[in-house]
Amino acid sequence: MNSFGTLFKVQIFGESHGEAIGVVIDGLPAGLSLRKEEFSNDLARRKGGATGTTSRVEEEQIEFLSGLFNGKSTGTPLTAIVHNRNTTPLDYELHQSIPRPGHADFTAKIKHHGNNDYRGGGHHSGRLTIALIMAGVVAKKLLGAISIHSEILHIGGVKPWDSSLQKAMEEGDSLGGVIECRVKGLPVGIGEPFFNSIESMIAHIVFSIPGIRGIEFGDGFKAAEMKGSAHNDPIISSDGTTSRNGAGGINGGFSNGNELVFRTAIKPTCSIGKEQESYNFATGNIEKFTIKGRHDACFALRTPVVIEAATAIALADLMMLASAADTLSR
Ligand SMILES: Cc1cc2nc3c(=O)[nH]c(=O)nc-3n(C[C@H](O)[C@H](O)[C@H](O)COP(=O)(O)O)c2cc1C
Repeated sequence: MNSFGTLFKVQIFGESHGEAIGVVIDGLPAGLSLRKEEFSNDLARRKGGATGTTSRVEEEQIEFLSGLFNGKSTGTPLTAIVHNRNTTPLDYELHQSIPRPGHADFTAKIKHHGNNDYRGGGHHSGRLTIALIMAGVVAKKLLGAISIHSEILHIGGVKPWDSSLQKAMEEGDSLGGVIECRVKGLPVGIGEPFFNSIESMIAHIVFSIPGIRGIEFGDGFKAAEMKGSAHNDPIISSDGTTSRNGAGGINGGFSNGNELVFRTAIKPTCSIGKEQESYNFATGNIEKFTIKGRHDACFALRTPVVIEAATAIALADLMMLASAADTLSR
């Protein structure tokens, strides 16, 4: 469904070429000061316009519809939206009959019996991540001194990637990438095993971002090739500091007080400029076609801030759960 979280509950809505993209945050404590300017930086980090990203550039002006009074959260649902102004819905008519390989055109059409808004991928557009950014800014504020930072490790397997990105673009093709996220300052014991373990909640929300192909914590898939003596993280002080961090800062589904580290694999954009083949549902033939519209040659370039936002949302919820559980147990 379109909501995530137990106590810090985020519900997202909107379509790429519809009126707006928005978020409702339920469970936001009263009294948190929020100014529009505080959202500008993260919204700008997600924007298109740079080399390798979409030429669709929107103003991304946030508007609050509810839950904010005199600059502070009221304790009732906070609703925030960003309008879609720069839309080109006619670019997507073709994909009603020829679904783009790799996009949600086919699956959404079948699932929703043809009632889906197919314009720009509708609800399955990367544009929906604006809702995560808005909630992420609020969550980051709630997390206070806990810092979350994401960066691109490579694009298409290389770093620096400028020339390979340029080549892919000249060929009308696309590239993916790997993004690493690090969280500093988490106390020990955040996470609610079994099903709300910290890695389950982060993986859940990160995998909800469109176009994600994998996630690994700490040593990740390499752990399967290591011996226990190499993968174990020796504890070297009473606060739980370890001399290495193969667990990525998590043991038993709880944060262990070390840096939380995970990497996310982002797929190459499916909407490429090259001619492709797909099934035409109108004619019943496999046909050649080319995609119109404005697309990122590499949306991994715009995704670090989205992963930070998703992480902040999951952690804000888990922090609230931990403090509620503590209150009860005391
Ligand atoms: C920030 C961001 C921007 C994206 N931009 C595009 C794009 O321009 N063109 C495109 O085809 N897919 C884009 N995507 C990916 C699609 O939304 C995604 O591939 C599609 O919804 C299908 O979902 P899936 O890849 O998870 O199966 C973007 C994703 C993100 C996170």
